[in-house]
Amino acid sequence: MPSHREDELELEQGLLSGVSRKEQLPERPLLYSRRPLLYIMLLISFLGLSWVFLRTDARQPLTPTLNVPRNVQLDWAQYSPYFPAGTYSSPPSGCKVDQIQRHGARYPTKGASTAIRQALAKIQSVDEYTDSRLNFLRSFKYQLGTDDLVPFGAAQSFDSGVEVFERYSHLTNGRNIPFVRSSDSERVVVSAQNWTNGFSFASNHRFNPPVAVIISEAANDTLDDSMCPGAGDSDEQTSAWLGTFAPPITSRLNAAASGANLTDKDTFSLISLCPFETVFLEKGSPFCSIFAEDQISFPGFEYAGDLDKYYGTGYGQELGRVQGVGYVNELIARLTNSPVRDNTQTNRTLDSNPATFPLNRSIYADFSHDNQMIAIYAALGLFNSTALNPTQPDPAHIWRVSDLVPFSARMVVERLDCGKQGSNVRIFVNDALQPLEFCGGDPRVGICTLKAFVESQSYSRNDGEGDFEKCFLDS
Ligand SMILES: *[C@@H]1O[C@H](CO)[C@@H](O)[C@H](O)[C@H]1NC(C)=O
Ligand SMILES: *[C@@H]1O[C@H](CO)[C@@H](O)[C@H](O)[C@H]1NC(C)=O
Ligand SMILES: *[C@@H]1O[C@H](CO)[C@@H](O)[C@H](O)[C@H]1NC(C)=O
Ligand SMILES: *[C@@H]1O[C@H](CO)[C@@H](O)[C@H](O)[C@H]1NC(C)=O
Ligand SMILES: *[C@@H]1O[C@H](CO)[C@@H](O)[C@H](O)[C@H]1NC(C)=O
Ligand SMILES: *[C@@H]1O[C@H](CO)[C@@H](O)[C@H](O)[C@H]1NC(C)=O
Repeated sequence: MPSHREDELELEQGLLSGVSRKEQLPERPLLYSRRPLLYIMLLISFLGLSWVFLRTDARQPLTPTLNVPRNVQLDWAQYSPYFPAGTYSSPPSGCKVDQIQRHGARYPTKGASTAIRQALAKIQSVDEYTDSRLNFLRSFKYQLGTDDLVPFGAAQSFDSGVEVFERYSHLTNGRNIPFVRSSDSERVVVSAQNWTNGFSFASNHRFNPPVAVIISEAANDTLDDSMCPGAGDSDEQTSAWLGTFAPPITSRLNAAASGANLTDKDTFSLISLCPFETVFLEKGSPFCSIFAEDQISFPGFEYAGDLDKYYGTGYGQELGRVQGVGYVNELIARLTNSPVRDNTQTNRTLDSNPATFPLNRSIYADFSHDNQMIAIYAALGLFNSTALNPTQPDPAHIWRVSDLVPFSARMVVERLDCGKQGSNVRIFVNDALQPLEFCGGDPRVGICTLKAFVESQSYSRNDGEGDFEKCFLDS
C-alpha cells in the first residue's frame, strides 16, 4: 500500500530549515539585451504598480491568520497553509491563464486518523507526565473529522478565487468566464465551489462561473493519480528518514510519558496534530508547543513530506511523472487552441466535446490533489534537481513540499500574447516564477516561447514514452 496516497499515513523527516525562498527564485534581470523583452517587462512593472495601488484599500482576506510563526508553518510539508512563495508580477494584457489548484486545508485522512488515535490512546493512557507541556493531554479530547475541508480551507480557496479575479479581471466578460473543472473528491469539489464563490464575490456577482465538469476518480481523470496501479510508493525512503530523525524525539516523549511506549510512527502522528489541529482551531494547537523548541521535529516532518512526494509521484518514482502526462497534454491543447492529443489518463469523450473541454476561454481552473500536482510538476520538468537522499538531507534542496503543494497550492500557467513576437509562456507555482530552463528560458526572466515550451514537452506529447503501459504490467 503506497504511503504517498493522501489516505495513508504519511511519514516524514527533515533536519534542515532549507533555503530561504528568495534564493529559489529567479532573479529579476536589471538589464535586458533584447528590446522586445524590455517592452514586455516594463509593461509588467507598470501593471504591477497599478495593481499595488488598487490593492491598498482592498478587502481583508477571508482566511484567518494563525498565531503560529510562519517559519514553523513552513515546516509542515503538505500540511502547511498556502503562503505566496514569490512575488507575482502582472502579465501584459491579452494573456490566457490556466491554473491547477490543490484543495484547501482539510482534516486528516482516514488512514492518518487511525494512526493518530492509536498514538493518542497510548500517550493518554499514562498516569503522570513529567513534562508540563503534556499536561493538557489529561483532559484533551480528539475532535477532528476525516478527509473533508475545514472552514479555514474553504476560506483559502475563496481568497484564491478573489485573487484571480483581481489579477485577471481584464480577461473576463459576460461571454468569457473561467472554465472550472474538479476531480470528484468531496474536499476538491468544495474547494472548487469556494473558489468560484470568491471569484463571483470579487466581481460583485457579475461573473458566476459554475464548476462545469466534475471528473470521477474511479475513471479516466487527469486531476487525480489513481490510474497507475503499477506505480511504487515512498515507504522505503520515508521509513529510513523516520528512523533517522525521530528516535531522539520518541525517547524524549517516552521519558516524559513513562509507559506510553510510543514508536517513531506514533511520534510522527503526534507531530502531525500540530498542523491538523491548528487549521481546525484557527489558532496554535497545544501539540505545536510539544515540538516547537527541539529544532528537529518540524524540519524532520517537512523532509518526510519532501521524500514522500519525491518518491511517491515525483522524480524519484519511475511511474510518477507519467501520471501528469494527461494533464500536460490538456494544457498544451489549451495553450495552442488545438484538440487534445493524449493516450493516457484523459477522458476522450469529455476532452473532444467543446461543452466539457472548450478551447475558447481565457481562464481555466482545475482542482486536484497534492500527489497529482507533484506528478504534473515532474512531467513538466519543474523543480528538477539531484535526487533526495533519504537519510542525509541537503540543506539547499529546492524540493520542499511546503513550497510545492501546501494546502490550497496553485500552479498558474500564463500564455502571454506579445504582439509581433508571438506567444510566450510563464509558470508560477504559489506565485514563485519558475525558471523554465527546460525550454531554454532565461532563468532570470522565466519566460519561454510557446513553441519552445511545447517542444520541450516531448515526454507528454509521446504519451510518457512507454511508461503509461508499464502502469498496467503485472510485477
Ligand atoms: C466559445 O464557443 C462556444 C461554442 O461555439 C460559444 O457558444 C461561446 O460563446 C464561445 N465563447 C467565447 C468566449 O468565445
Ligand atoms: C464553501 O463551499 C461549501 C459547499 O458549497 C459551502 O457550504 C461553504 O459555505 C463555502 N464557503 C465559502 C467560504 O465559500
Ligand atoms: C468519460 O466521461 C463520461 C462523461 O462524464 C463518463 O460517462 C464516462 O464514464 C467516462 N469514461 C471513462 C473511461 O472515464
Ligand atoms: C508499555 O509496555 C509495558 C511493558 O511491556 C506494558 O506493561 C504497558 O502496558 C505498555 N503500555 C501501553 C500503553 O501499551
Ligand atoms: C480511458 O483511458 C484508457 C487508457 O488510456 C483508454 O484506453 C480509454 O479509451 C479511455 N476512455 C475514455 C472514455 O477516454
Ligand atoms: C532533469 O535534469 C536532468 C539533469 O539536468 C536532465 O537530464 C533531465 O532531462 C531533467 N528532467 C526533466 C524532466 O526535465
